Amino acid sequence: YPLKKHNTFGMNAFAKEFISVTSTNELAEVLRENQGKKLFILGGGSNMLLTQDVDALVIQVGLKGIDAVWQNDEKVHIKAMAGENWHEFVQYCIEHNFGGIENLSLIPGNVGTTPIQNIGAYGTEIKDVMISCEAMEITTGQITTFTTSDCEFGYRESIFKGRLKDQYIITSVTFGLTKANHVINTSYGDIAAELTKQNVTLPPTIKEVGDAITAIRQSKLPDPNVLGNSGSFFKNPIITTEEFEKAYLQHPQMPHYTVDDTHIKVPAGWLIEQCGFKGKRFGDAGVHEKQALVLVNYGNATGQDLLELSKNIQETVYETFGIKIEAEVNVI
Ligand code: EPU
Repeated sequence: YPLKKHNTFGMNAFAKEFISVTSTNELAEVLRENQGKKLFILGGGSNMLLTQDVDALVIQVGLKGIDAVWQNDEKVHIKAMAGENWHEFVQYCIEHNFGGIENLSLIPGNVGTTPIQNIGAYGTEIKDVMISCEAMEITTGQITTFTTSDCEFGYRESIFKGRLKDQYIITSVTFGLTKANHVINTSYGDIAAELTKQNVTLPPTIKEVGDAITAIRQSKLPDPNVLGNSGSFFKNPIITTEEFEKAYLQHPQMPHYTVDDTHIKVPAGWLIEQCGFKGKRFGDAGVHEKQALVLVNYGNATGQDLLELSKNIQETVYETFGIKIEAEVNVI
C-alpha cells in the first residue's frame, strides 16, 4: 500500500498492510483482530521521515468529531477526535470565538498527535491549553483518560514519546478555551510587527492573531503540498549554562533564551545557518532557504538522502559549536 500521500515529506514508501478506522469501536476491533502483529499508528504523517518500507499493519486514525463537552459564560471545554485536521480545528475554534489555540494556527498534522510531542509555536504549547486526552491501550482496547499532568509534558516531549511509547493510541483531546476575556499573546518574535503591517487596531481579536501567525508561517515555512517537509527537523538544543558559556565565548552573536537557572536554549536554525547549510541543496534533499530548521524534499529525495543530510548537519554543528542537535521528527 503506497504511503506517499500519507507523509508530508512525500516519501515513496510502502506499507505491508493499511487500514483506516473511523470509530473507536472499529479501532478496538482492528486491534483485537490483529493481536501480536506489528502495528504502525498513523495520524497526519507530518512528523516522520520514512527511510524504508513499513513492514507492519498501518492503522490510520480517522476518528472525526468536535463537541463542546462543558461550558459556562466564559469558558468552554472542546473535545476533538484524533483524526480531525489540526488547522481546520483551530479555524473552527476561531470562528466560534473560542480562544487559546490561535497561536497554533497552520501547524500540519491531526489533533490526536498534538499531545505526543506537545506541539508548540509562538509562545503556546499544547500543554497550556489541554485539559485531558483519551487514549486506547493497544493490548486491551481499553480507553484511559490522561490529564495534562499525567502526560509528563516537556519541550516537544510527553509520556507518549517516553515511558508509554507505542502502548496507547490517542483517540481524542479536550481543550480548555475561553469564550470571553481572551488571553492574547503577541509577545513572540514577529507577531506584533505583522499586526502593525496589517493595520490591526490593538488589542487584536483572536482571529487577527491567527491570521497574523498564518501569514508569518506562510512567509517562511514551506507548504508540504508544494514542497515535501516535516516542519522543524531538529529540536532547539537545551544545554547547560557551562556548555553555553564555552560556545558563547567563541560565538558571542549566538542568540539564546534562558530556560531555567542552569539551562539555555539555542535556536538550532541559527546554528545550522551559521554552518552554511541554509538554502543548500544536495540532489533532491535540501535545507529550506527561509528557515534552516526545515529540511525539504525537492521531489525524488529518498528517506536515506534526507537522513544523510541530517547527519551531515548534526556533525558539522557539533564540530563548529560543540553543541549536539537532535531530530524532532521520528525517523522510521
Ligand atoms: N534562526 C536563524 N536562522 C534560521 C532560522 C532561525 O538564525 O534559518 C534563529 C533566529 O535567531 C530566530 C530564531 O532562530 O530569531 C528563532 O526562529 P523562529 O522564530 O523561526 O523559531 P524556531 O526556533 O526556528 C520554533 C519551533 C517551530 C515554531 C517556531 C515559532 C522548534 C523545534 N521549532 O522554531 O515549530 O513554529 O519556533 O514558535 O521548537 C515545528 O516544530 O515543526 C515548528 C515549525
